Amino acid sequence: MSKIKIPYIAPSEITPEAVWLSRRKWLLQAGAGVAALGAGGLVPDLSAWAAGQQSSALPAQPNPQYWLSNKLTSEKDVSSYNNFYEFGTGKTDPLDYAGKMQTRPWTVSIEGEVAKPRTFDIDDLLKLASLEERIYRLRCVEAWSMVIPWSGYSLATLLKQVEPTSKAKYVEFVTAVQPDNMPGLGDRIIDWPYVEGLRIDEAMHPLTMLVFGVYGKVLPNQNGAPMRVAIPWKYGFKSGKSIVKIRLLEKMPVTSWVKIASNEYGFYANVNPDVPHPRWSQATERRIGDGIFAPRVDTLMFNGYADQVASLYTGMDLRKNY
Ligand code: MTE
Repeated sequence: MSKIKIPYIAPSEITPEAVWLSRRKWLLQAGAGVAALGAGGLVPDLSAWAAGQQSSALPAQPNPQYWLSNKLTSEKDVSSYNNFYEFGTGKTDPLDYAGKMQTRPWTVSIEGEVAKPRTFDIDDLLKLASLEERIYRLRCVEAWSMVIPWSGYSLATLLKQVEPTSKAKYVEFVTAVQPDNMPGLGDRIIDWPYVEGLRIDEAMHPLTMLVFGVYGKVLPNQNGAPMRVAIPWKYGFKSGKSIVKIRLLEKMPVTSWVKIASNEYGFYANVNPDVPHPRWSQATERRIGDGIFAPRVDTLMFNGYADQVASLYTGMDLRKNY
């Protein structure tokens, strides 16, 4: 087993979250992740989970392959500065209004170009694979970013269960619509439901993650409970929240933001500092929590994941396929 180095954490980076982080790093360093937590320790408390109790713990095994040494965005910022237009367009609207969303019972149907279409109960999806904790960068098209510890597993694990056919070229994610519980639906900015999508090879890439928790706890409603996706090399709008349907398709789906303004938001939406949004630059970003006087950070190609994903786009003009 290869040795895992503990990256140096500058004193300025020490926050309660960094303490949390180093505890997990210690577990990894000791090579004792599984042993220390114990097999039982990794089994989530399903009674709390089933009741949709958001503050309940959701233990997950840290995955050293997807671990960043960047300072984490605080748990408070992760759960109070959100985009979830079903609850309004203000950054605190999701925190203020998402509590009413019903996350139980909850099913996710997988349909379209698959040999074994199936509707999964959310509790079965949670148990489908052991949960990993991965720290991902999230870069929003609005030019701010966060560094977030998500818990879940690769979407590919789920898709393999339903056996995509050779015609499955794209995957579409459909968010729930709960008119009584989502005050933002009254705004017709988006033709609800919120729809996002990926090419099948992007969806099958191990970085593309089904997320059930954050910061070691059940995902709060405002972050997309009970299940969302996270695709760290793409702008945040690709990561659909509170998903109820996944469709495998032969044709590229018309996604919500492409429908609204295809000249501003493309289907691929790969983070690319060289391709500006028509109304603002994408070359730098503001790290949420760093304070308004902190210098902006240079945005990295594919949000820093180029080594893993650049090969998916060999031969494609990324200025045209933005
Ligand atoms: N999913 C739905 N259903 N509705 C939304 O408005 N906003 C997207 C994405 N997923 C959105 C969504 C955008 S623009 C971003 S940046 C991320 O969610 C934000 O995720 P977070 O609030 O958990 O940080």
